Amino acid sequence: MDIHFGVDYYPEHWSRDRWETDVRLMEEMGIQVVRLAEFSWHKLEPAEGSYDFEWLDSIIKLLEEHGIKTVLGTPTAAPPAWMIKAHPEIQPVDKFSRVRHFGGRHHDCQSNKTYREYIRRFVEEYSKHYAYNPAVIGWQIDNELGTYFDESCMCPSCTGRFRQWLKEKYKDIAELNKAWGTAFWSQDYNEFEEITPPLLTATGENPSALLDWKRFASDLIVDFAKLQADIIRRNCPGQFITHNYMNFANRVDYYELGKLLDFVSDDIYPAGIWQKQPHQPEHEMAACYDAVRGYKKKNYWMMEQQAGIAGWNIMGRAPAPGEISAWAVQAVAHGADAIVFFRWRTCALGTEQYWHGILGHSGNPGRVYEEIRSLITRFSPVMKEIKGSMPRPEAAMVHSFELNYALDIQPNHPDLDYIGHLMGLYKPLYDRNIQVDFVRETDDLSQYRLVIAPLQYLMTKEIAENYRNYVNRGGNLVLDMRAGVKDEHNICMTEYELPGELRDICGIEIPEYDCLYEKKGKAEYKEEVYEISKWADIIELKGAEPLASFACGFYEGSPVVTVNQYGMGRVWYIGTEGSPEFLDALFEDILSESGVGGIGKSPEGVELSVREKNGKRWLFAINFTDQEKSFKLNGTWRMILGEREKKLQPCETQVYVNDLGAAEDKEETSMKEELLGMSSKELFIVLTEGRDVLLRAKLQNILREHLKHYGKDSFNEEEENVDLRLIVGEYYDGKYNGR
Ligand code: GLA
Ligand code: GLA
Repeated sequence: MDIHFGVDYYPEHWSRDRWETDVRLMEEMGIQVVRLAEFSWHKLEPAEGSYDFEWLDSIIKLLEEHGIKTVLGTPTAAPPAWMIKAHPEIQPVDKFSRVRHFGGRHHDCQSNKTYREYIRRFVEEYSKHYAYNPAVIGWQIDNELGTYFDESCMCPSCTGRFRQWLKEKYKDIAELNKAWGTAFWSQDYNEFEEITPPLLTATGENPSALLDWKRFASDLIVDFAKLQADIIRRNCPGQFITHNYMNFANRVDYYELGKLLDFVSDDIYPAGIWQKQPHQPEHEMAACYDAVRGYKKKNYWMMEQQAGIAGWNIMGRAPAPGEISAWAVQAVAHGADAIVFFRWRTCALGTEQYWHGILGHSGNPGRVYEEIRSLITRFSPVMKEIKGSMPRPEAAMVHSFELNYALDIQPNHPDLDYIGHLMGLYKPLYDRNIQVDFVRETDDLSQYRLVIAPLQYLMTKEIAENYRNYVNRGGNLVLDMRAGVKDEHNICMTEYELPGELRDICGIEIPEYDCLYEKKGKAEYKEEVYEISKWADIIELKGAEPLASFACGFYEGSPVVTVNQYGMGRVWYIGTEGSPEFLDALFEDILSESGVGGIGKSPEGVELSVREKNGKRWLFAINFTDQEKSFKLNGTWRMILGEREKKLQPCETQVYVNDLGAAEDKEETSMKEELLGMSSKELFIVLTEGRDVLLRAKLQNILREHLKHYGKDSFNEEEENVDLRLIVGEYYDGKYNGR
């Protein structure tokens, strides 16, 4: 059974005589799955060792009778009061040494052995009980791991574990002293036992110690999740394991956590109370989904998709008619294979009485119910068809938890925000309907025409080498301010001028810089003046060409943006944070120079995105506005869902298909003829400046095959002069694949 639409359901908040009505209403609207029991530990284990699965069995059975499957949450984000009374040390301790007591949720220390033992016993029992229940298809471990209070738990148990983690990492205390730069302010340690978590200190913390603490806290969360994942894997071979992520939340490295899961799930509230109001801009939501897809490079589920006003003590705004659907479809367009709405019915109890669901407090189906019902009816056939298809972007953006940690510790500028900065660079691509993958610094980048690596602040030889190889083989790379500043221990690198390890590929040196504190700067690009902020790198050219210059400061006239040819590729360097207008103008050129093209043109508030599978492509056109909009598509597309072609009603989505398999075959033959007909010099031009995107990509691919065949990493100086015609010939003779 394919699962595409569901709800988060808390039957334990309501009397049993309501269950039948709920389930019937769900069935009538096309709900196929519910998530249950996410926080219900007390209901399932009311006293130590006494389990009560009866109520959960009954609701699962009732749902199954109506054709609805279940995903079970492990309720470990809500340890019950009896457990806390018996073992108060389970409660976490913050950096002020204050205990965070029972009364909300997530009041648990994740290293505490007693707590882990309770979890082990409960999850063992729980997973065995439901392992072979055909109505239960999978598990969600805990809830939004890592989202507790501001810092991670710093109790004695976590202190011990942190020391152990450091011992394993550094072995010798002298190594730790070196890595943390403890010569500063007499911070040297004689033994690991002297080290504490970053508890409230008098003044100034050690950034190297803080970075290791954040790494440790992330590893601890992954280990905490693993305890449960291992038990469920062993007991429940036929059921999946997932976890509900929170987009770019940076308390646990989601790439690492993802290794435990079958697929990633995500929670999003575009108009939620913690988001920007009136809601998170569409390009930011798009970036969130692209990141979520990137954590496992795989389709994902939305485990909590906004279905009404969000609110705890105060409320967000009401989603307008059609908005909930448009938001849900956007998640699908970026790679979601299932949408689970939070929540079924607006809760009448506890903290979340104002976090609204599909049904209101009264439980009567209304506007939102009808909207989601019609969404499910229209989209179910499409969802079935596109299952497993993925966006295949030509552009990628590097996203790193380590960079996020390091820039949280020392933002360099008071308003510099790692994710906010990424969003700024994402926007010009989004505005042109250019899709983006989020990748890690050490990933293979060769499939992308353009890679943007913002704020590449921490640098290692391995990362530098990855970028160098990518560019050397024809990649287009964008780097910017604060690149290459620190080593992996969060200590400033001193061997070279900035951008340190990357100076050769950038063709620049930055002996000085200026923090644009409390003032906006200006830059000139193609005779227009734009605003810039936060930072000014005072660049000396060492082979690169200047593209834009400062129109402010004592460095007025000196380059702020440069481009450098390196190997077969190019590197742009942006020595500031550009305003949206500046980045828009700049990326207009960077994208065309890199041969990255969009799917079509659309006005503001209309998104075009594509998923593909086996040579078949589906295009989603979504209108997020309350006005009619029109758009243009590049290439031939056939509408399969929508009203009037290329004219969108407010919040309408249209879906198009394009069966390009056959077209690609034809292109392949004509590309072969064209490439074989060129001289080596002409081929080189195609490779370096070629405007023909397909030819250029084909040629890059041929070169990659060539390198692979000869077991090489990159072209060296001599080989750059190799006869490209020879390589193309070898490729088409089948030399590289034994054709
Ligand atoms: C004060 C202190 C120095 C140094 C500087 C800069 O002047 O005396 O030790 O810390 O501030 O922070
Ligand atoms: C998160 C949680 C849910 C719920 C919502 C609303 O996404 O996962 O349990 O608390 O927020 O606050």
